[in-house]
Order: sequence, then C-alpha cells, then structure tokens
Amino acid sequence: MNTQAIGLFDSGVGGLSIWQAVKQVLPNEHTIYLADNLNAPYGEKSKDEIIALSEKNSEFLLNRNVKLIIVACNSASTNAIPHLRQKYKIPFIRIQPAIKPAGLQSKTKVIGLLATKATLQSTMLEELKQIIPTQDVEIVGKYGKGLVEIVENVAMEQPETYSLLNQYLQPMLAKNIDQLVLGCTHYPFLIPQMQQILGDKVRIIDPALPIARQAKRILTEFDLLAPANQKANHIFYANKSIKALQVILQQYPDSVIQMHDF
Ligand code: DGL
Repeated sequence: MNTQAIGLFDSGVGGLSIWQAVKQVLPNEHTIYLADNLNAPYGEKSKDEIIALSEKNSEFLLNRNVKLIIVACNSASTNAIPHLRQKYKIPFIRIQPAIKPAGLQSKTKVIGLLATKATLQSTMLEELKQIIPTQDVEIVGKYGKGLVEIVENVAMEQPETYSLLNQYLQPMLAKNIDQLVLGCTHYPFLIPQMQQILGDKVRIIDPALPIARQAKRILTEFDLLAPANQKANHIFYANKSIKALQVILQQYPDSVIQMHDF
C-alpha cells in the first residue's frame, strides 16, 4: 500500500496551495489531484450538495487506489468530513480555518477570517470557536464572494481583484486585526495582493504546511509512507477546464494534467 498515491480534491485549483506543501513535505509520494471545476464554487452550495460532491470525488480517488485523501477545500472539509470518515475506511485529512493559532498569537485580540459562505455557515466553525481558547478574541468574519472565480480565471492582478479585496479587508483593518486567517484554499494565491492592502502589521495565515505535516504524521502512524527512493509522479484531473491547472502548474514540469468526466 505504501506505493499508492495520496489523493486530494477541491472545487478547482485552490487545493494546489495544499498540494504544493505536500510535494515539499512528502517529496516521494505520488499524488492524484481532482479539480471538480464543473461544480465550482462549492462555497455557494448547501451542506447536502457539498456532502454529495465530496462523496463523488472521494470515490473517484478511491477507484484510483489512493491510500489517504486530503480534502483540500475548507468548504468540503467543514461540511462533509464527519460523513466521509464514517463512510470510507482510509484516513481523511481535513482543512479547518486556523483560528486557534491566530487567536493565540494575536496581540490586538482581533483576528480576521476570510472564507466562503459554506465555511462561515458551517457548524464545524461554530464548534471550533467553542473549543479553542479564543473567548477573549474577536473574530471578524467576511465572505470573500468572487475571489474563488478570480483565482480560477488566474486574474489575480486585475483592478477588480484589488477593489474586492479592499471591500473585504478594509473593515477588518478598521477593527484593528493583526492576524488574517484564510478560510478557503483558493485565497493563498491572493496573498501578495492582500499583503499590499494589509501592510506588514497583519500576519496572513495559510494552513498549507501544517496540513502537509499532519498528512506526514498520519502516514507515519499507519506505516503508509512511500519508500524513500520512490520517484513521485503527479496526476491532475479536471472536469470542466484544465486551463488554470496548466497555468499554475507550469513550474512543475513533472505534472500530468488530464480532462476527465466524473
Ligand atoms: N477552495 C475551496 C475552499 O477552500 C472551495 C471554494 C469554492 O469552490 O467556493 O473552500
């Protein structure tokens, strides 16, 4: 089983922010990445719709014999993880908004959370707020409407991007945030633009590396790590368009990108 791939899925290219960290932390692992861009954005869908899509995506990956699945999407993780873990036998790694580390490190005791509607409305976010020591921390949540589409169109440098980001981030700055949690895996692709607006007093928290390290811990625990001499291969599937995958993955020439119906 150790030579089997790690599976990842997202509604599009957002999960590549996680995939890049996985490649860095686990360089010998084969990966299979699924971009369900036919059904993007997930953040606008109901919990039941997200569960059904997450099931379909997981089965696509399981049919390709993956040994572990990283749900590289906050909207799917916060809404579908309990269901997936109950239904399938392999380990699932979830992404959750990093409000705990942000709360612990905040000096102003005000943190920003930019996320999709589905994540902001999820019961998991509510539970997360209850169990972490952030009682004395104010969370300023904003729905980043339109940002997923910008990243899917690889249009990060357009003026519209800055006007949307200003619309979401200025109210957070006015409340004196010093940490910004990115609650959607698409948003790390906008960090340079966000940092220009936020300046250097606000730290942006991208959960990619901790997630990749968590995947490594789980693979180690289950004795599933790839052999140290394995040369990794990386396959990417999309069901509507492979354009954004091609643009973002051009710096990784060992990637194989394919259109696939599923
Ligand atoms: N990248 C996903 C997330 O982290 C999905 C965004 C979307 O499709 O709305 O939530």
